[in-house]
Amino acid sequence: MPLTDDKLDVKILKGNIIFTPELGKFSMHEDSYIIVENNKVKSICKTLPAEYKNFEVDDYGNKLIIPGFVDLHFHAPQYANRGLGLDKELLPWLEDYTFPEEAKFADVDYAKKIYKRVVKEVWKQGTTRIVVFGSLHKESTKILLDYFIKSGLGAFVGKVGMDRNSPDYLIEETEHSLAHTEEILKEYANKSDIVKPIITPRFVPTCTPESMGGFGELAKKYNVPIQSHLSENTGEVEWVKELHPEFDNYASVYHSFGCFGQLPTVMAHCVHNIDEEIDLMSDTGVYAAHCPNANYNLSSGIMPVRKFLNKGCKVGLGTDVGAGHKVSIANVMSIAIQASKIKWLESDKALDPITTEEAFYLGTKGGGSFFGKVGSFEEGYDFDALVIDDSYLGDTDLSLRERLQRYIYIGDDRNIVDRYVAGKKVDEPVLD
Ligand code: GUN
Ligand code: FE
Repeated sequence: MPLTDDKLDVKILKGNIIFTPELGKFSMHEDSYIIVENNKVKSICKTLPAEYKNFEVDDYGNKLIIPGFVDLHFHAPQYANRGLGLDKELLPWLEDYTFPEEAKFADVDYAKKIYKRVVKEVWKQGTTRIVVFGSLHKESTKILLDYFIKSGLGAFVGKVGMDRNSPDYLIEETEHSLAHTEEILKEYANKSDIVKPIITPRFVPTCTPESMGGFGELAKKYNVPIQSHLSENTGEVEWVKELHPEFDNYASVYHSFGCFGQLPTVMAHCVHNIDEEIDLMSDTGVYAAHCPNANYNLSSGIMPVRKFLNKGCKVGLGTDVGAGHKVSIANVMSIAIQASKIKWLESDKALDPITTEEAFYLGTKGGGSFFGKVGSFEEGYDFDALVIDDSYLGDTDLSLRERLQRYIYIGDDRNIVDRYVAGKKVDEPVLD
């Protein structure tokens, strides 16, 4: 139990501490203490200062203590479809698999059944913060928000907007799209410090200019962030050109409707952006959620992550469940490295592959900054952490860098012994 006095809640953990304060650089502290005060990181030290001598220490021995994983892109109502139809491309996959599955979330009992599993699995895989799409259904999306609040995990959760080019069984009136979104924004504004609503136009093809303009207004009015998809697949990019010849590019459609960086924004995929769009993202601080599993599965292509990083864009990682088949961000880190190596070859070695340090940064602090001071163990950061027991992965007589690298590639949820979010130890969610 942490010792608490009137003002100060102190937690002290001991182990092998690793994090990435900047892109491409590990900060490693072998056999050290991390001191957490009022749920935020205070300091890391090799010997405990005298004033902390009377506090209890959670001694994790030779285990690794790393920041919790951050998933910037996940579709909760696609969870039951993982692994299905992934031999298709994006648009046929949406039509044949995704829309029929999402339509089932009109039924709140079905939503309860699946969303319980979603939140438990996200917890299990070591994701401590997540940016999530629900379906277009208001009541089911509220259930998802409630489950995340109950779980202790941090999340942005959005009711999807779809008011054009969608099947009859999964489409909404523009007026309802905006009114239902606003209802959720009001109802969930202050229910939790770490679970919040986010405005969620699905993507340009399924959202009318009226709804996108309305979403931009709502974002401003309630000061809330926005998520969507951008330039994932060539078929989609062509479709957007046909729908909006009046705009120079895909990103400028969102931008003109107030949905691109006017408020904090995350755009999933960004595989086929032209330079002007990447510059706009860099100028407006729009995040790119790199989802390499999904981009391979739906033959979308490989996001040129190095180009985005060179241009100073904010980048994090996304599982993109269900287009991505894995819930683990550690897995996405390894696939991001693989994808970047192929991109390096494809680019005549112009775009350097990303390193383990860089992939780890993207899946922790890179995406974490969307939530504030999250994803690092620098002073003042929310204490989000995983404790990793890698003893049965093989020899532990390796450098800490090698142990972490091996865990990223061959470890899984069985290696995660404890999870902390915003300073609190979070056990398996009980959602009944
Ligand atoms: N673009 C529009 N909707 C979706 C979706 O559900 N998944 C992916 N990967 N891309 C999309
Ligand atoms: Fe997606």
